[in-house]
This record gives sequence, C-alpha cells and structure tokens, in this order.
Amino acid sequence: MPTDYDLLARQLEALLDGRDWLTNSAQTCAFIMHGVPDLNWAGFYLQRQPQLLTLGPFQGQPACNPIPFAKGVCGAAARSRQTQRIADVHAVADHIACDAASRSELVVPILAETQLWGVLDLDSPLPARFSAADQAGIEQLVATFVARSDLAAAS
Ligand code: SME
Repeated sequence: MPTDYDLLARQLEALLDGRDWLTNSAQTCAFIMHGVPDLNWAGFYLQRQPQLLTLGPFQGQPACNPIPFAKGVCGAAARSRQTQRIADVHAVADHIACDAASRSELVVPILAETQLWGVLDLDSPLPARFSAADQAGIEQLVATFVARSDLAAAS
C-alpha cells in the first residue's frame, strides 16, 4: 500500500506544536523513521558554517560528520538546492557510505528564505526505494517542518 503522505503531513503538523527548530527537527526525523517504511537512517545535516554540513538530529546508526558541500549526495543537494533521488548509491562515485546496508537515498534541501539551512537525508536498505511519489511526499513533510519552525534561529 502506498504511503499516505497527506495523512503524515497532517500528523506532523499536529506534532510540531512549538517553533523551536531543534525540537522540531528531532521530532520530524523520528516521525519519518517510524512512519515511512523501509528506512535505515533519517536525519538532518545543517549548514552551521559556510559550505559545510554538520550532523544534526537523526535516527539510525552514528553517521559521517562533517560533510563538505563538495562531497557526496548530501553535498550535491546542498550545492544544487535540488532534491537528490538515488536509486543505487553504489553507482554514485562520491557517495559517502556511512552504513554499508544503505542501497538507495533521498536528500531534500531545506531553505530558510534565500539561505541553504540544511538537508534532510533518508537512506534505505532497499534498492530504488524512493519513487517520484515518495519524493513529493517527503518534500511535503519538509515543507511542513519549515512552515512550523523558526529556522533563522539556527545559526
Ligand atoms: N550517504 C550520504 C552521507 C550521509 S549518510 O548516508 C547518513 C552522502 O553521500 O551524502
């Protein structure tokens, strides 16, 4: 059965009942990890210094930190400000393997006005886990997180 992202977005909206970005990012990645099937990692990387992604709240195994904008799938999302939907991470030359179990990945950039605030990174042990519908649904959840949080207070 396909994931009901409209329902998840409404539930996330209710869950994020304050505006603190730290609390909300922790809640958002826990909510996604439990609400979206077949993930082995879900978390945030934040731009706290120029051109560098620093590990933020996450669910899953300890992860790589920091990640320069120049590297990996997360770096590509930060540089291009475009969602990266990777069916086979082994086919990406500069993919950063934090967990050997990961086979596919979705990384959504997060903007605070004109600034790249960070990215949401999802990993799956299944190849080609993320469809275009999953991408749209996860982007919807990120939009909910952004709308409910004071991101400017992050730096
Ligand atoms: N695979 C990512 C690194 C982050 S971990 O998956 C948590 C990348 O290539 O950017």
